[in-house]
Formats: sequence, C-alpha cells, structure tokens
Amino acid sequence: MRLILIPKFLFFIVLVATTPCIAQKQTKAQFIGSLMAKMTLQEKLGQLNLIIPGDASVTGTVVSTDVEGKIKRGLVGGMFGIAGLEKIKKVQELAVRESRLRIPMLFGSDIIHGYKTAFPIPLALSASWDLAMIEKSAQMAALEATADGLNWTFSPMVDIARDPRWGRVAEGAGEDPFLGSAIAKAMVVGYQGGAGNANLSTGKSLLSCVKHFALYGAPEGGRDYNTVDMSRHKMYNDYFPPYKAAVDAGAGSVMTSFNDVDGVPASGNKWLLTSVLRNQWGFKGFVVSDYTSVTEMINHGIGDTAAVSALSLNAGLDMDMVSEGFLNTLQKSLQSGKVSMAAIDAACKRILEAKYDLGLFEDPFKYLKQERSSEVLSADKRAFAKEAAMRSFVLLKNDNQVLPLKQGQKIALIGPLANDRSNMPGTWSINADAKQAVAVLEGFHNRPGIGSKVMYAKGANLSDDPVFAAKINVFGEKISIDTRTPQALLAEALAVAAASDVIVAVVGEASEMSGEAASRSSLDIPESQQKLIEALSKTGKPLVLVLMNGRPLTIAKELNAATAVLDVWHAGTEAGNAVASVLYGDYNPAGKLTMSFPRNVGQIPIYYSVRNTGRPNGGDVFGKYKSNYLDVENSPLLPFGYGLSYTSFSYTKPVLSANSLTANASLTASITLTNTGNYDGEEVVQLYIKDDVASITRPLKELKGFQKVFLKKGESKTVIFTIDEKLLRFYNADLKHTSEKGSFQVYIGTNALVENSVSFQLK
Ligand code: BGC
Repeated sequence: MRLILIPKFLFFIVLVATTPCIAQKQTKAQFIGSLMAKMTLQEKLGQLNLIIPGDASVTGTVVSTDVEGKIKRGLVGGMFGIAGLEKIKKVQELAVRESRLRIPMLFGSDIIHGYKTAFPIPLALSASWDLAMIEKSAQMAALEATADGLNWTFSPMVDIARDPRWGRVAEGAGEDPFLGSAIAKAMVVGYQGGAGNANLSTGKSLLSCVKHFALYGAPEGGRDYNTVDMSRHKMYNDYFPPYKAAVDAGAGSVMTSFNDVDGVPASGNKWLLTSVLRNQWGFKGFVVSDYTSVTEMINHGIGDTAAVSALSLNAGLDMDMVSEGFLNTLQKSLQSGKVSMAAIDAACKRILEAKYDLGLFEDPFKYLKQERSSEVLSADKRAFAKEAAMRSFVLLKNDNQVLPLKQGQKIALIGPLANDRSNMPGTWSINADAKQAVAVLEGFHNRPGIGSKVMYAKGANLSDDPVFAAKINVFGEKISIDTRTPQALLAEALAVAAASDVIVAVVGEASEMSGEAASRSSLDIPESQQKLIEALSKTGKPLVLVLMNGRPLTIAKELNAATAVLDVWHAGTEAGNAVASVLYGDYNPAGKLTMSFPRNVGQIPIYYSVRNTGRPNGGDVFGKYKSNYLDVENSPLLPFGYGLSYTSFSYTKPVLSANSLTANASLTASITLTNTGNYDGEEVVQLYIKDDVASITRPLKELKGFQKVFLKKGESKTVIFTIDEKLLRFYNADLKHTSEKGSFQVYIGTNALVENSVSFQLK
C-alpha cells in the first residue's frame, strides 16, 4: 500500500532504501527478529503459503489463483511448479521489487533423480549400494537445478516400502531401514553441500525436504494415499530410522504425508510433528504439508478448512502447500483464540531462517545467474547419468554366460521399450526432456561396429488395452498402441529373431506404471509382452531380457523362460548407452535388489527382516499347522540383496575377533572374498545380525553393514566389519533405544538368504 504513494521515478531508490539487508555484525536471529517486527499478520501468513501457478504440471486438482497479486501483497512464501531461469527471475523480481517488505521467495521443485539430466529412479540408485555415487547424484542434481533458478528440492523420499503394489516404491530406497538411513543421509549431504546447513548459501546447494513424514510407504492394500495403521514398535524400529537419519544429517525441511497415522492425518498430527520430530529428534527446520494435504483433512472427516488449518499449525506444520487454508483462515482462528500468535511467529521464523540459510537475503538472485546456464544438461551430467545407470543395474540371471554379448553376434533387439525415449527418464522426472534421452536401439548404434549387427522389431505393445493406456498417458504418451495388429507385431519380431544369434528383448513397465497414484493389484508384466516373451523363448535362441520397471514385478515365468535377465529399472537420460555398455561388458553389473521380488502378490507385504512366528515352517517345505501357504512358498522369488555378476565370488565362513562384547568395546567380523570367475568385478558384501533372545520379538536377520568391494579376477580380499553395542540397539516395548545382553548371530554373505552364522555374546 505504501508504494502506491511513491512517485514512479523514486520507486527503485525507495525500494533499495528499505531492502531487508543484513546489517554488519547482525546475527541471523537479530536480522530475522527485526524483519518480523515489521511484518503484518497477513505478511506472516504469506510466508506460510506455498503456491503453484496454474500452468504447471500438477499432482492435485487444485492450483493457485491471483498469483501475481498475492506475491505483490506479500502473501506468498514460496512457489513450485515453475521452471527456467527467465520465469523464476521474473517472479523473484516481483517479490523483491514489488512487495512491501521485499522478502525473497523459495523456489521448489521435485528434483527427485537428477534434474534436466535424469539419473536412474531412486529405487535403481539404491540398488547400486554405492553411497558415494548416490551422494554425487544429489550433488549433480543440485548443481544443475541451482543453475536453472531453483533453491529447494522435495527430495529425498525415504519412505520404507514393503508393498510393491504401491507405485511410489520407485521413488525410495526400498525395504530396509539400515540401507534406507544411509541413503537418506547421503542424499541430504549431496543436496545441501555437506552435513548440516553450513554450505547452503553457496548458491550451488539445494535445501532438501525429506518426505513423506510419516509412514507413507505403508498404505493399506498398497493403494496410494490410503490409511496407515501401524504399531509404534514397528514405526520406531523399521519406518522412522531413515527420516531420523535425514534430520540428523541436517535436512532443512520435512514434508508431511497424505496418510493418517494412528487416526490423525500426518499434516495435523501433533504427536508426529512436535513430539517425535521436534522434541525427540531435535529438528530445527520447517515442515511443509504435501499438496493440499491440509484441506484434504476435510475428506478425512477432521473438520472444515478453518478447523484443519488450525489443527495443522498447532500440530507443528509451518507451510501449507497449495490449499491456502493457512492464508485464508488463520487470522480468524487467531481472533477466536484457536491458534496463538506465538505459533504463527514460530512457523514464519522457521521459513525465514531457511531463506536466510540459502543466502537469499544476501542476494535474492543468487540462484538466477545467467552465466551458469551451460551447466544444464552438460556433458559431465550426462557422463554421470550413464555411470549411475550402469551401477544401478541388477543381473538377475545369466545362464551359459550368455552375457556379456560378443562383438560378432547378430542381435535381434525386440520389445516395446527397445526403441523408446519417452519412458527412459522414469517417473517423477518432470523437469527432464524425454527427447534428450537415449533409447536402447540408439545405444547399440552408438557403439562402433555394432550397428550393422542389430535388427529391431517392436514385437508387442507395452499394453494392448487402450483404457489402461489412457490412465498411463495422462501427462504424455508413454504407451503407444501400434496401428498394426498384435499378430503382425509378433510375426515381424519372430522373423527378426530367426535371423539372429541372440535375442535381446526390452520389456517391462511404462515409466508411469509406477510413481504417484500408480498402484497396481497385479505385478505381472502386461499380457501383450508376456505373449511376446513366451514366443521368443520358444525359438530356442538365447533370450536376454532387459527388464524396465519401477518396482519389483512377479516374473517367475519370464525368469524361467529367459537365458539371462538384466534389471535396468528406468535408467534415466543415458539409459540406452548404459544398457548397451553393460550388455557388451564394458562394465560388469554389480547392483543388488533393495526390495524382495515376490512370487505372487499374495505374499505381499514381503521383506526379509521378518520376525519369527511360534510356528515357523522351517524353509519352504509345507507343514500342516505351520505358518505357510497352501499354494506358494514363503520365500520370495528373489531376495533382498540379490544380484549376480559376470564373474563369481566365493565367501569363507565369518570369523569373529572375539566371542563376547561389552558395552564400550567392539569386535570384528570378517570373511575372505575371492573372485572365482573370469571377469574383474564388484560384490556388495552384506553383514546381517540376529538378536537371539530379547524382551520383544526381533527380526530373523537385520542388515547391519555392507561394503562394495572390487576384485580383479582371481583376487582375494579380507572384508572386515566392526560390531559394537550401538549397532545392536533397538526400540524396546517402552520405545527406549537400547540393547539387551545375550547371544547374537552374525551372517556375512551375498544376499539376505545367507545361512552360515557365527555367534557372540553381548555381556
Ligand atoms: C507428492 C509430493 C510432491 C508434491 C509436489 C505431491 O503430490 O506427494 O511427493 O513433492 O506433490 O509436487
């Protein structure tokens, strides 16, 4: 309002004079204190408001209106769903030149696995078990996104997921809390330029937002957004650790989840947001809701907009994503005493602190430097994307050493995903341009001397069902149904196969068959492709399946029919080059599954760290009155930690440095690993521990360490793990993090099915 009275020519000068610049020697607290002293109630509520402009790709049904007017009136704290330097610059200019207090805005985005250069989907990255590479993926994404105007990422998603029907398993690190915690930390450190917030203001780091707090990965029936009902014991031991690890690593923000927790939706859950997050874990950053999750509490039956907004603020939520319940109702709720000024101030302060940490008060245009635009889609990002992809592939089968392919072989490259770019970036790659992606066929052609050896045929549609395809194609065509009949497609493929030495079939899921709102009740490869695989297997030619998927699939039949299977997930911008390189053996695959693959959906939820029943079935042999199924084994098709290599490895039995352990000491467990095959390669050596007797039931095995070891062929190495009392702690019935004396089993092996153990006593 004040600005209207100022003559136009004085406009800029006056603005400069009132810029909230940081006075010399002013501390962060002093600066924010004096800024807040100038703010009206509406301006404070404005900081709590996160909006999305209407032309963005949105994941809800609501978008923001009167965006420009609100920014000018100081009613917006941050924006997402906006991309590109020029656009973001204009909006930041509006905020810092035309709003009364000229407070800079946060610009967020779902930078989930890379930015314009798409890296493999997070589930794939986790399969690398390579923490340095995963950290680098976040760092590279931060470099690229900050060069394009962004300063805040809605990542990492650290929700533990044990139900592959849930489509968002693609966005996380799988089923295990130990691995999930290590990856959560690596991602936060990568985005924020180090642990904590010290390096946030370099202009090259992103504020990270760990999500979705909490338990979003455990919806009933695997149906997205659905109810979660879980014991506290399971929350603390299995589901909370990765969120806590991200908080401990200094994540600057936390996003709530859509689901309810103990009957209270997460965005209004005081126990979760205040007791656990702030009081128990000491979180100091700000909490943002998920997309309209505040007003979605109306559907949960918690009350009207005013009631759910007040509930959320009082619970500890600081920022309201899109629903504008805070902006529109908190003033009234303050007047009627339903919320306090102190609560509004606390939320506003936390958001201003994040802006301060990002260096936005020092320079609101810190992330808007034209000279950095060449960093977007630069050669180093693409090179890294290929490297990351290769390291995320998991070799599921390799009979007769059919892989790696040999130079002179004639290849029939078949399948609906063999010559496809649009599905390569994977789900949640909203900023990536699929046209920049490399199809597998292109990857083969990019290899010198290979092009003339490759014959291509589509072979089948991803799915023949137009109704299903329409659900997948909401944001662009991922499943294209050919104008030719399925019979014609198959006939062409069989002709190509007949002329080849080896068939490589690229099959699986379209990228949008996983991700948000992409739950499936069947995890089979679509029928159209099953028929193709069956027909190809009957040719008698070696059949290599290159499987693209955003989640574990039920592939018993295909695993049996194929000679080799390489799981490449959705591998990102460089997918095609990475697939060709690995198939030809430039890189020896070393990925390991981070989610169990079920035999059928009836086994779900499925995970390795189960607790025993009173009636265990003793392996996969059926026993009456034992805990088993009449029609399927208990074991998964492929266990957690599973993955082969072009070479082979042998393990010795673990050896302990001592057979007992006391509280302040440690012991070591070691094995000798030998590369017994014909190629150099890496192996992820996994340490599992079982707590034999405790006051509550404990998992049969828990991952407690891992090392990725490179061995030349014929080489041996001793791999040593250190075990101390802290590693043995768990949350007991009183939710106390403690260890209990007694015996423990130690397993070191190639996957979660490892059997040989040695034991020690905790004294
Ligand atoms: C998703 C979040 C995402 C947000 C903003 C929601 O639908 O659940 O993961 O960060 O949209 O795009």
